[in-house]
Amino acid sequence: MPGMIDTHIHAPQYMFIGTGMERPLLEWLACTTFPTEDIFLDVEIARNIYNAVVRRTLRNGTTTACYFATIHTDASILLADIASQYGQRAFIGKVCMDRNDTYEKYSETTEESIRETERYYKSIAYSIYKRVKPVITPRFAISCSEKLLKELGKFADEQDLHIQSHISESPAEIKEVLKLFPDYKNYTEVYNRNKLLTNKTVMAHGCYLTNKELHVFRERGTAISHCPNSNISLCSGHLDVRNALNHKVKVGLGTDIAGGYSISLLDTIRKAIETSKILYMERSKREQDNNVIEGKKKGKITPNLINGDTQNDPIKTENSYHVLTYKEAFRLATLGGSEALSIDHITGNFEVGKEFDALLINPDAKDSPFELLSPISTEEVLQRFLYLGDDRNIKAVYVAGRCVVPFISNN
Ligand code: GUN
Ligand code: FE
Repeated sequence: MPGMIDTHIHAPQYMFIGTGMERPLLEWLACTTFPTEDIFLDVEIARNIYNAVVRRTLRNGTTTACYFATIHTDASILLADIASQYGQRAFIGKVCMDRNDTYEKYSETTEESIRETERYYKSIAYSIYKRVKPVITPRFAISCSEKLLKELGKFADEQDLHIQSHISESPAEIKEVLKLFPDYKNYTEVYNRNKLLTNKTVMAHGCYLTNKELHVFRERGTAISHCPNSNISLCSGHLDVRNALNHKVKVGLGTDIAGGYSISLLDTIRKAIETSKILYMERSKREQDNNVIEGKKKGKITPNLINGDTQNDPIKTENSYHVLTYKEAFRLATLGGSEALSIDHITGNFEVGKEFDALLINPDAKDSPFELLSPISTEEVLQRFLYLGDDRNIKAVYVAGRCVVPFISNN
C-alpha cells in the first residue's frame, strides 16, 4: 500500500510520549511541553531522541513526516540530517516563539527568531538533502508577536516555503488569541493577514473553525492536519472532518506526538473514524432533544416526557450525517496527507510518474495481531489491517524506491 503521511508531529515530544496528558492544552504546554523542549539546546539529547523518533515512525509506516522541532537551530538541523540519513521524506521546522508568559525561559527575541529561521533555512536549503525540506514554523499565535508573524509570512513568501502552525485547537487557546490580537476578528485572520495562509500551509487541529473560516482555508488552499488522538487526549475538542471536506478544504492526518499518544497513523485512522462516529451520535442526541422540545411546544408530548422521562420514546439512531468510512480515512492518511503538504504530484498513491513510497504489508505475519481465518477479500484484508494491524504486519518500507525498513544503518 502507499506509505502513510504524518502531517503534524512534534519530534522532541517523543521524549515524554504516553505520559502527562491529564492537563488541558495550555497547562500541558507550560508544565510538560516547554520544560522538555527547552533541554534540546543539548544536541546530544536531541540526537538520541531524534534518532528514536525517525526510526519509530518509519518502522510504523510513516514515509513522510511533517515535524516541529524546537526553537534550537542546531538541533533542528540535526533532525533534518537524521531524517535524511534514514531516508524519510520530511518537512522540518525550527519552532519560532518570541512570547512565552507561561514558561519564559523557553523563548527567543523577535530578532533572534527571524535571524535563526534564516540560518536554519539556508542550512537545509543549501544542503545535500533531497527529500528533507524546511518549514516556516510559528508555534501558534499565542507564542508569537504580530511583528514575528509578519516577518515569517514575508520570508515564507519570498522564498516560497512551506508553513505550519496550530489553529483553533481549544476554547481557552482561542480566548487567549482574541485577547492578544484585539484588532483581528478571528483566529484565521491573525494568520491570514500576516500572509501565513497559503497553499503550502498546514494548520493543525482547527476543531473550532467556523464555516466562514473554513471558507478562507478553501480560498487560500490551506490544509488542516486532523489530529484526533491529541484532540481527545488533551480534551481539546473534535474536528468535524466531514464539514471540512464538504468545504473542500485539504485534510491530512497527524499524530501530534505527544499531545496524541500513538506514533502510528493506523491509530490516527481509527481515532478519525471514532471521532466521526461520536459526532454522528451527538447529532442524533441533538435531534432527539430538539424533537422533544418541538413536541412540548406543540403539546404533543405525553406528561411523562414533559417530566424529562424519555424512556418510552424510541431512541433516535439515524440521521443524515455521513460518518467517515475506513476508505476515506485511509485516503486521508495517504493521498490526503500529500495534498495537505502539496506533494501530491510526487507521492500519496501509486499513480504512474510518482515516486515509490510504499509499505509491504504481510497480513499473515507469524506474530500478527490479527488472523485471516476464512478467506476474505482484499478490501477486507485492508480493513482488518487498518483496524487491527501494527508494525508487525509492515514487512518493508520504501521511500522513493529505496528500502528504508528493515534498517540498514545501525546507528
Ligand atoms: N499549540 C502550541 N504548541 C502546541 C504543541 O506542542 N502541541 C499541541 N497539541 N498544540 C500546541
Ligand atoms: Fe501540535
